[in-house]
Amino acid sequence: MSKKVVIIGGEGNGGVVASCIEDNRNRFGDTEWEVIGFINDFETEVDGYPVIGKLADIPKLLAETDYYFSWAIHLVGRSVKTMEMFNEVNIPDERLATIIHKSAFIGSKTEIGPGCMVMAGSYVGPLTKLGKCTFIMANCSIGHNVTTGPLCHCSVGTIMTGYSSLGVCADMAIGAACLAYVKVGDYAMVGARALATKDVPEKEIHVGTPAKLLKRVRED
Ligand SMILES: CC(C)(COP(=O)(O)OP(=O)(O)OC[C@H]1O[C@@H](n2cnc3c(N)ncnc32)[C@H](O)[C@@H]1OP(=O)(O)O)[C@@H](O)C(=O)NCCC(=O)NCCS
Repeated sequence: MSKKVVIIGGEGNGGVVASCIEDNRNRFGDTEWEVIGFINDFETEVDGYPVIGKLADIPKLLAETDYYFSWAIHLVGRSVKTMEMFNEVNIPDERLATIIHKSAFIGSKTEIGPGCMVMAGSYVGPLTKLGKCTFIMANCSIGHNVTTGPLCHCSVGTIMTGYSSLGVCADMAIGAACLAYVKVGDYAMVGARALATKDVPEKEIHVGTPAKLLKRVRED
């Protein structure tokens, strides 16, 4: 029997997770997960799925012991707020759904934290550790021995070279890349198409090639 997953988010990231689950079911016969609905404070329906509650309803839904949760809220340039919202809902690790598209490659001795999501066509190399609820979007290349903190977000086409790392709730935008051993700090972001050749200090947003400071993340 499929495990029931409630997706927390909207039609962007949330819709991506839902369609990954549907594709795993329909094309690959993997029925591990079944989408029950969404948690969303603003909509009544997302991508044809019902919204079954708001963020404030999560404690009530946690009482349904057969429900699992997928965290798909990602506020661009506002990682501090994203982490604050995640901490408020306080979902135990064992109730987080880990969802991996059947076309993704996961290396040997790779550790995938609870609640992680790896989308179609992505490569996650050996000895890499993905922190809790890290979201790897489609067609990313996450090299070997890479480490990510919890709630990191790698948008479509991210490249993390071997031994690079992402701090807590750090963010790689579309097509962003990190050279080997580069550390992206807590709540920091490498902007769209940027190449980080040096460490990115916490809460800073760097863009360009080589990536340079653009501004700091919003903290509200
Ligand atoms: C980092 C980012 C948020 C900055 O965007 P922004 O807040 O709109 O940027 P600003 O308005 O502060 O732009 C300031 C300047 O930087 C430039 N700039 C912004 N992003 C840039 C980038 N990635 N590379 C080079 N220059 C960039 C702007 O053109 C602007 O230049 P100007 O002053 O000469 O006009 C954006 O580049 C980005 O990466 N967005 C995320 C995209 C993404 O991955 N979405 C998730 C999909 S799942």
